[in-house]
Amino acid sequence: MSRTGGPGGAAGVGAGEDGAPPARPGFGIRRPEGATGDEAEAAALSAAPALPQLPPDELIDPDEERRRSNLDDILGRLDAELVGLEPVKTRIREIAALLLVDRMRRRFGLDAPRPTLHMSFTGSPGTGKTTVAVRMAELLHGLGYLTRGHLVAVTRDDLVGQYVGHTAPKTKEVLKRAMGGVLFIDEAYYLYRVENERDYGQESIEILLQVMENQREDLVVILAGYKDRMDTFFSANPGMSSRIAHHIDFPDYSVTELATIGGLMLGQAGYRLSPGAVEVFEDYLRRRKDQARFANARSVRNALERARLRHAGRVLGAGRPLGRDDLVTLEAEDFLASRVFAGPEP
Ligand SMILES: Nc1ncnc2c1ncn2[C@@H]1O[C@H](COP(=O)(O)OP(=O)(O)OP(=O)(O)O)[C@@H](O)[C@H]1O
Ligand SMILES: [Mg+2]
Repeated sequence: MSRTGGPGGAAGVGAGEDGAPPARPGFGIRRPEGATGDEAEAAALSAAPALPQLPPDELIDPDEERRRSNLDDILGRLDAELVGLEPVKTRIREIAALLLVDRMRRRFGLDAPRPTLHMSFTGSPGTGKTTVAVRMAELLHGLGYLTRGHLVAVTRDDLVGQYVGHTAPKTKEVLKRAMGGVLFIDEAYYLYRVENERDYGQESIEILLQVMENQREDLVVILAGYKDRMDTFFSANPGMSSRIAHHIDFPDYSVTELATIGGLMLGQAGYRLSPGAVEVFEDYLRRRKDQARFANARSVRNALERARLRHAGRVLGAGRPLGRDDLVTLEAEDFLASRVFAGPEP
């Protein structure tokens, strides 16, 4: 059972995927052409371009550094465009602070090893994992941790082959595409099959582990999926667990948060709810939350798409000239026609 993707479900999302410089060949330590030994090691130590060095008695303005890295812009958009998710936002701010200080230290020639930033994002469907991963990639790019800042989203089918000898090239090809950005592995636990230890998924895990081990790589791996299954996966693969620096849990949204998310989505699409529809929409969310295949913010998006369909049918069927208000206002009946209201009140 796979919620996303299928064969070929790999998707490049976010900044840098188009028009970005091609990923460097190979996925070992990045060796600048012609450089060998220590020289290459030193160059590979940091993905960030060399910053102008400061004398030891100089002072750095942290606000200036924040501006340069676009940090406030990215964090501000995160706050404005993503409802709730407080624990997630807090952790992102902490990671940002760490990297900002790291950048400032490097200006004084204080070279510390790159912090490990592989992560796991656990939570139910539609809680914002993919969306936050895209933002994380942007942030890490802005702070100079990643050179490209794009996101490559894959599932097991993109990494694991069907036959002997197919898995390693598939996994390496994906890693090559993700270099300089974030490799987002959705439902990562499908890489490991308890019942079959000769499953090709194991081969893919081992290649991933090698790359994740090497902290000098210009890559962040994010494993995503349901919390309970991810916990089982980590207990069966302690090597993977120990390479994850941040385990971030995405809580389910409350009805109020879902309604606010709906409001944001409507605003972005140029629609609004009539006063009567506001109440009905909340009622809809309360009922939908307890039904099968509820997928948090994604269910909100789907509900609004369907309400838009009903709205279109309704206004066209009205048999009168239509004003701006008619075209932007969703009414209670656009929601009440949903099957969600067919059952008894929860
Ligand atoms: N906190 C939020 N505020 C506003 N919109 C949100 C929020 N969380 C998710 N969304 C929106 O909901 C949709 C689903 O989010 P996303 O794809 O990131 O969830 P997911 O956790 O990756 O889901 P899945 O596990 O099914 O892949 C997206 O359109 C996203 O923009
Ligand atoms: Mg997702």
